[in-house]
Amino acid sequence: MFYAGIDLGTSSVKLLLMDSEGKVINTVSEEYPVYFPKPGWSEQNPKDWYESVIKGMARLLDGIDKSKLAGISFGGQMHGLVILDEDDKVIRPCILWNDGRTKAECEYLNERIGKTALSAYTANIAFAGFTAPKIMWLKKNEPESFKRIKKIMLPKDYLAYMLTGVFSTDVSDASGTLLFDVKNRCWSKEMCEICGITIEMLPRIYESYECIGTVMKHTADLLGIGANVKVAAGAGDNAAAAVATGTVGDGKCNISLGTSGTIFISSDKFSVDENNCLHSFCDANGRYHLMGCMLSAASCNKWWMEDILETDSYEEEQSKIENLGENHVYFLPYLMGERSPHNNPNARGTFIGMSMDTTRSHMTQAVLEGVAFAFRDMLEIAKKSGINVERTKVCGGGAKSRKWIKILANVLNLKIDIPKSEEGPSLGAAILAATACGEYKNVDEAVEKIIKIKETIEPEKELTDRYQKQYEIFRQIYPACKEIFDKMSLETMCACGHRTETDVV
Ligand code: XUL
Repeated sequence: MFYAGIDLGTSSVKLLLMDSEGKVINTVSEEYPVYFPKPGWSEQNPKDWYESVIKGMARLLDGIDKSKLAGISFGGQMHGLVILDEDDKVIRPCILWNDGRTKAECEYLNERIGKTALSAYTANIAFAGFTAPKIMWLKKNEPESFKRIKKIMLPKDYLAYMLTGVFSTDVSDASGTLLFDVKNRCWSKEMCEICGITIEMLPRIYESYECIGTVMKHTADLLGIGANVKVAAGAGDNAAAAVATGTVGDGKCNISLGTSGTIFISSDKFSVDENNCLHSFCDANGRYHLMGCMLSAASCNKWWMEDILETDSYEEEQSKIENLGENHVYFLPYLMGERSPHNNPNARGTFIGMSMDTTRSHMTQAVLEGVAFAFRDMLEIAKKSGINVERTKVCGGGAKSRKWIKILANVLNLKIDIPKSEEGPSLGAAILAATACGEYKNVDEAVEKIIKIKETIEPEKELTDRYQKQYEIFRQIYPACKEIFDKMSLETMCACGHRTETDVV
């Protein structure tokens, strides 16, 4: 039988077809636009996602015996706010995970409601980009849209709804809403009250590997597939990527070097880090994980290459990088503000340390290293909360660069295991579909049979020492710039007519 995994990313949707043994049969992707209507805002049209999925599915299944497609599932960009009215019409564009407009709402939640209460209700605190602060922003700033809300869902759940008519989500994605009681795997009635919504507006919760229904007849006819194709709830993209890299079980680590950068640590038991710097979320295999998320990772490199240097020769540019660990240029990768660990939507990208002998490749190197240092910031938080990581898997578009993986291994002083298959959330999603269809007993068994490691990149003592010295400098740059970022943001806010924390409720 065949299983399709749909990874609803930020720049494109990636679709993957896998057979019963876990062999990847085909992959395709379809792009769609991201809109940045104001500095720090980011939105997408759910209709673009759906149309791209339909187009992509047709290409994915082209020339394949469609009657053998048994299941479909999803990995999706997390935290996005999708709202539907009573006619199931999308009310406004989705506000994405890397949107920073909710600074005032987050301050209200973290300071007035209080981090202790939030953590007791949800195991997490408020970060700009999480769903609950966006609902509060909407209530205040677009009251007409807010009043029309009948259904609130996450990006991939919109696809599931369009395919099956079932209003559902899964525990891993629900975890990132700040409306979800992660420990008990159910919606939090306290958080619904704070946001002014009812639990009826929220989807039914499933485990990621559970079947939510089957593809509706008209969609099945459109795609030329059987009407009994099962759809599994799926997972947030990081939880799906963890399945795809075999990061299941206690204490395993995965780094995703995608548009965002995440460090994901799986755990058999529920836990919360002391300062709630790491997110405490449910896993796709019935358990839990801790995760740090930086908002711009591979996207910094894409921005630097394509928008600034105006080239797509990534490899050629990186081949000119010579002296690792000796760069005098540093880069703060906060192009969309930063989530972990600074929790500051006002933070911005910065180059520092240039001199007359600085070259283009020093700057390119600084971008790769800046992202690696920001990962190190998150690893340090994990270490402080007693988590001992010695090795990690890696996935995401940035992981295709050998040089970047070498930099990461040495900045983090971790062994990096590179999985045989380079596919991330789309493979994880296909594995979840196969598990839901009974092909495997559970996610652990599927991962055990399917995921293999190709090679390991080891840190080198001399290089880790050099990077240690550089990291000591890097970690001082953000605190030195913070006040300036806040002042710069105030000026933008005045120009845009934004409000302050006191205007929230
Ligand atoms: C995770 C997060 C990002 C998005 C990217 O908390 O916000 O990784 O899921 O798609």
